[in-house]
Amino acid sequence: MRGIAMIGIAVMHESAIARMPKVELHLHIEGSLEPELMFALAKRNDVELPYASIEEVRAAYDFSNLQSFLDIYYAGALVLQTEQDFYDLTWAYMERCQADKVRHTEIFFDAQTHTDRGVAFETVVKGITRALSDGRERMGISSHLILCFLRHLSAEAAMTTLEQALPYRDHIIGVGLDSSEKGHPPEKFTEVFDRARGEGFLTVAHAGEEGPAAYIEQALDLLKVQRIDHGVRCVEDPLLVRRLQKEQIPLTVCPLSNVRLRVFDRLADHNLKHLLDAGLCVTVNSDDPAYFGGYIGQNLLETTRALNLDLDDLERLARNAVTASFLDDGGKEDLMIQIDQWREQAGQGCG
Ligand code: ADE
Ligand code: ZN
Repeated sequence: MRGIAMIGIAVMHESAIARMPKVELHLHIEGSLEPELMFALAKRNDVELPYASIEEVRAAYDFSNLQSFLDIYYAGALVLQTEQDFYDLTWAYMERCQADKVRHTEIFFDAQTHTDRGVAFETVVKGITRALSDGRERMGISSHLILCFLRHLSAEAAMTTLEQALPYRDHIIGVGLDSSEKGHPPEKFTEVFDRARGEGFLTVAHAGEEGPAAYIEQALDLLKVQRIDHGVRCVEDPLLVRRLQKEQIPLTVCPLSNVRLRVFDRLADHNLKHLLDAGLCVTVNSDDPAYFGGYIGQNLLETTRALNLDLDDLERLARNAVTASFLDDGGKEDLMIQIDQWREQAGQGCG
């Protein structure tokens, strides 16, 4: 009987997760490049791939750490060359959003990965924003775009990239910091982020994924970020955990990514439930779904199973993501009402 009841709860949660109105806050658009589209674009642009088949590509996605992933991820992005390529990439992600009931998404793009090999900043932004605009019109999915600086490159290169972004200020809501974390502390980018904030951009940064808790503090105190991307290593500093809770600094956690990049050995070892119970503003996101085995719905589902999350936990995750988003107050209220309605239905056992 107990077993049957547990299966019933599992099915109910699966249905509740499928129906939950979602907000995604940590998604690298280049990380949504599925092998099928990689092959199609390689053919279209006459780019030679180091893989003979889609199966071979997937077999290569066996990572030992962040850097081993980044090497393959940057190589995959070489197939992206024209505005239409960036449109097709982003449109494919919007279709996944629609299937997953994502109502709002805030997307990172790595401009330097493209501009450093001669693709114009304008080409990248135009392709992505055209697809986001179509997603808004045809699917009712709202979105914001965030320019990430590659932290393994110099602060001067980041400043040049920021200057390239200025004419597109209407399309880019904020700036972020990603790529190889260890050895590239947030303090390296203090001046760039000062300038970005002065120009009206909001700020976020990857910190405490592979790097130490001190990088999270630097991102808060020196880069003055509104959110921390990942942040799971905050637990190494209890004072920092207390600060994150007190100031309700959002963490955009990416559970499947953390397992694939060996931040945690198994999903069951992930600290997300611990952080949620400690009252932190935790959210669930997909990071680079084409490389890590699932989009936001799959991240929620697998995390729910591994950590025994209940409906209250799921509701908290849904509301945290709305609160942590860069939507205006009206947009947030609309989504909170959708979550009220979802929770009422889910609570009645209709999922
Ligand atoms: N770029 C794409 N995914 C990333 C991640 N998980 N960490 C740092 N940089 C990234
Ligand atoms: Zn990321």
